Formats: sequence, structure tokens, C-alpha cells
Amino acid sequence: MRATNEITMAVKFIRDEEKMIIEELKKLGIAANVLFGKQCSDCVNHPRMFPSVALIRNISLIESASIAKLLKLSGYRTINAPGTIEVCSNKAIQALFFQQHHVSQPKFSIAFNFDQITEFGESLGGRYVIKPIQSSWGRGIALIQTEEEFQAWRSGRESLEANQNSFPVLVQEVIEKGNYDIRVVVIGTKPVVAFRRVSDHWKTNTHLGASVDPIEINSDIYALVDMITGSLGEGIYGVDILYDSNKQKYLLCEVNHNPEFSFSQRVHGVNVAARIAEYVNEIYLTEQSQLRRVSNMGVV
Ligand SMILES: Nc1ncnc2c1ncn2[C@@H]1O[C@H](COP(=O)(O)OP(=O)(O)O)[C@@H](O)[C@H]1O
Ligand SMILES: [Mg+2]
Repeated sequence: MRATNEITMAVKFIRDEEKMIIEELKKLGIAANVLFGKQCSDCVNHPRMFPSVALIRNISLIESASIAKLLKLSGYRTINAPGTIEVCSNKAIQALFFQQHHVSQPKFSIAFNFDQITEFGESLGGRYVIKPIQSSWGRGIALIQTEEEFQAWRSGRESLEANQNSFPVLVQEVIEKGNYDIRVVVIGTKPVVAFRRVSDHWKTNTHLGASVDPIEINSDIYALVDMITGSLGEGIYGVDILYDSNKQKYLLCEVNHNPEFSFSQRVHGVNVAARIAEYVNEIYLTEQSQLRRVSNMGVV
């Protein structure tokens, strides 16, 4: 017998974050039906036998986008929405999306070959960042400051098989951000905690050893987050922000749709897992009440 209150959680594997969310959901009387990898056949083929909310926590960007789409089309309300996951999973789509919504970000270009990188790089004074469009944890991101560095990066790429020599890439101006960027955790539409990620390395991912320094969320950060959730819609996000010390302005670096928080939570003390569980519960209750309304009307 399934528990009355149950949501679905799609994962690649269970990390500390998912364990914590499952525990917090339990406290609210909700069980999590965990789907591993692509094992969503029951949900897709018998959608009405299961609860209609699915939390997407797959670590793989491609898998999370496709599972969210399948579940959505099987009648699930997915958190996050498939369209949002698609935007967040691809740095080129994301840059274009936020440009269209007038969200401040570093100058960028999407390059489809080496010459286009050089051309845009030169327009930036020969100092720029190259990013693979589907990556995370700082992997594959290169800072180019000299022709030599570019040639080294290029020959590394050219030595790959043609089908791995993947273009396009995102090319960005280098933001003078000091020794930190800012991670804001957003749940629903509001930021719940913000902290600096401080490092001696120019890439400030905590995975690469950056330390966590909690900060107040000021009105500029609020305004930027409002622009982001106003265009993307509500959801659970890890927003990376760069403070451009030349322009004295906050810029969006990227939005992650499946943020990790177990390491940073130990420092800032905000129970992100509990906030996620509350948000999922809220959506679950809304979905259930809508289902009840429709069923009272005799539609299902
Ligand atoms: N344009 C930039 N200028 C300066 N630093 C950057 C820039 N883009 C990224 N970084 C640094 O590199 C880190 C990783 O970049 P990001 O775009 O967030 O990719 P990932 O998905 O790998 O985290 C950021 O957290 C930031 O510290
Ligand atoms: Mg990042």
C-alpha cells in the first residue's frame, strides 16, 4: 500500500541533499517515492496511480530535462518545470534567455568554431572566459589571458575526436569580482540565504575548495533575483552572482536548477532542506486540492 501523502523524487543517486529533503518531507507527513535514473516507466505508463508532484533531483543535466518532460506529459507537476530545467541546463540557451529578459550578465558571445572565439576574444581585449555549454562544478571552464593560453586550450580541444570537439561554447568577458562570487538559494520566488564563495582561485565553486561566508541579502541582490524568477518562473534555484567592481553592479553568472547545499548549510545554518520540503508540500497541497475540485465536478 502506498502512503496517502506521497510525492515522486527523480534522482540519479541519493546524495546527502536528497536524504535531508526526504527526512524533512517525512516530518510533514509526506513520503518520497524515489525513482532512480530513467526508471520512470510506472509513472509514465500509469500516471494516475501515483501522486502528481515530482521533485527532479537528477544530477545529470540531460537526464533531468528529459525525465521532467516525460513526467510533465504524464500529468505530473514537476519541480522545477521542464522549460526551466532546459534553460538552466545549457549555458548558451541561458545566456540568450536572460538577454531577452534584460537580466544583467557579463558580455557574451556563442562561438561555433575557434575563429569566432578569437574574434570575440579580441573585441574583449584578449582576456576572456570559455565555457562548455553543458557543465557544472567549474569543469571545462578556462580563463584565457594570452594567445599562448588560447592555443593550449585549442590544441587540447583539437586532440579530441571530432564528435567530442564540442561546439558551440559560451565566451564571456572576465568580471573583476575579487576573490568571491555570491550564491543565492532561491525557493519559490524568494531568496532564502546568500553567501560569498571565497577562493584564491578565480573559479569559486565550493567543489573546488571555496569557503562559505554568509551575507545579508541587500536590495540589489533582491532586485536581480526578482528579475530572474520573474522571467524563469518559480522553482528551486542556486543563483550565482558576480559583483563587477568596475561597474559596481551585480551580474548574473548562472542559474542552477538542482543546487547542492549540504556543505554550505553547515556554515550558514539555514535549513535549506526544510525550506524545500515546505515548498514541495505547498505545491502538493495545491495539486491535491485541484484534483479534488475536478473530481467533485465529475471530470475524473
Ligand atoms: N565571466 C566570469 N568572470 C569571472 N569569473 C567567472 C566568470 N564566469 C565564471 N566565473 C567563475 O567561475 C565559476 C564557475 O562558473 P559558472 O558559470 O558558475 O559555471 P559552473 O556551472 O561550472 O559552476 C563561477 O562561480 C565564478 O567564480
Ligand atoms: Mg556555477
